[in-house]
Amino acid sequence: MPATNRQLLLKSRPKDLISRDNFTSVTAPVPELRDGQALAKVHFLSVDPTMRIWMSEREGYMPPVGIGEVMRAGGIAQVIASKNPEFHEGDFVLGLTGFQEYVLLGAGEPVPFRKLPQLPGVPLSAFLGTLGMTGITAYFGMTEVGKPKAGETLVVSAAAGATGSVAGQIGKIHGCRVVGIAGGAEKCAWLTGELGFDHAVDYKKSGWKQELAAACPKGIDIDYENVGGEIMHTVMSRMNPFGRIVLCGLISGYSAEDPGMASFGTVLIKRLRVQGFIVLDYAPRFTEAVTQLAQWMLAGKLKDRQTVVEGLENAPDALAMLFSGGNIGKTVVKL
Ligand SMILES: NC(=O)c1ccc[n+]([C@@H]2O[C@H](COP(=O)([O-])OP(=O)(O)OC[C@H]3O[C@@H](n4cnc5c(N)ncnc54)[C@H](OP(=O)(O)O)[C@@H]3O)[C@@H](O)[C@H]2O)c1
Repeated sequence: MPATNRQLLLKSRPKDLISRDNFTSVTAPVPELRDGQALAKVHFLSVDPTMRIWMSEREGYMPPVGIGEVMRAGGIAQVIASKNPEFHEGDFVLGLTGFQEYVLLGAGEPVPFRKLPQLPGVPLSAFLGTLGMTGITAYFGMTEVGKPKAGETLVVSAAAGATGSVAGQIGKIHGCRVVGIAGGAEKCAWLTGELGFDHAVDYKKSGWKQELAAACPKGIDIDYENVGGEIMHTVMSRMNPFGRIVLCGLISGYSAEDPGMASFGTVLIKRLRVQGFIVLDYAPRFTEAVTQLAQWMLAGKLKDRQTVVEGLENAPDALAMLFSGGNIGKTVVKL
């Protein structure tokens, strides 16, 4: 049993962008295991844009993290000691581990963990991305909200990120023309060269709005929206009547008071259907999503890419990267 547990606590709420100064590192003793408990060593942490909202005082679908609390984060851990018959040494588990090296599971602990299968050829950390929360989000956002039909045009924003890259690939699997919007030439080349997107628009280049229009000659039927703000306005202005907006995220507004607003004039005139959704609403059907995503992945129809940042102390930088666009695919921290 380790004697100590390194943890990153939330020290202050960011005013705009996240910085290392918002966290403090402490070393806490590892408590003796009680009956019904298990101790697991964290191997991978997930960083997610919603953590910026958890760091603020804004009410989201989960309460804010308190100042002085371990920063909430999803992760994958391996059981190293157990007094709980459900968890055995060596088991890999998934849950809200938090920014720390070790996590207690089982009796008296507030957060449930589920055991992970080990699939040959599938990296463990894929269960935080393509086979994890972001992949599952893209799956339900596309199949339940977007409902893509062959021949339709789908536009995905933050397309080279964890959720967007899977949403676009699901669009291709359903026979859509898929256009991604992403920041930078490397991301755009990955979308078209590796993932099979029909076109990728670099929104950091001048003339991107005209390029988007040219890439969608039949207008846009589905907007898988991850960003909000100007990108969302531009996509909406090209939508076909009765188009659908899968309102998944509004990351361009998470560091500000007021997340990117929609133009309701356009919603009215084009009779658009805009539906916000939160992946947790589909929790009873997660197994269905993971099974389908894994099948697509093993059949080579769904590609998984990760940006891996090493070391717990660098977790704040990994989180900040989501807002500067330094990541491609799912961003994880390896401990
Ligand atoms: N509704 C749900 O249940 C649910 C669940 C999971 C995630 N989400 C949402 O899905 C979206 C993507 O999340 P993710 O975890 O997959 O992250 P991600 O896409 O892997 O990373 C975020 C990406 O957003 C882009 N971005 C950041 N700030 C931007 C800005 N101001 N303007 C334009 N693009 C910006 C960056 O890409 P570029 O380099 O291309 O700018 C960055 O790589 C987020 O909005 C998140 O909140 C929703």
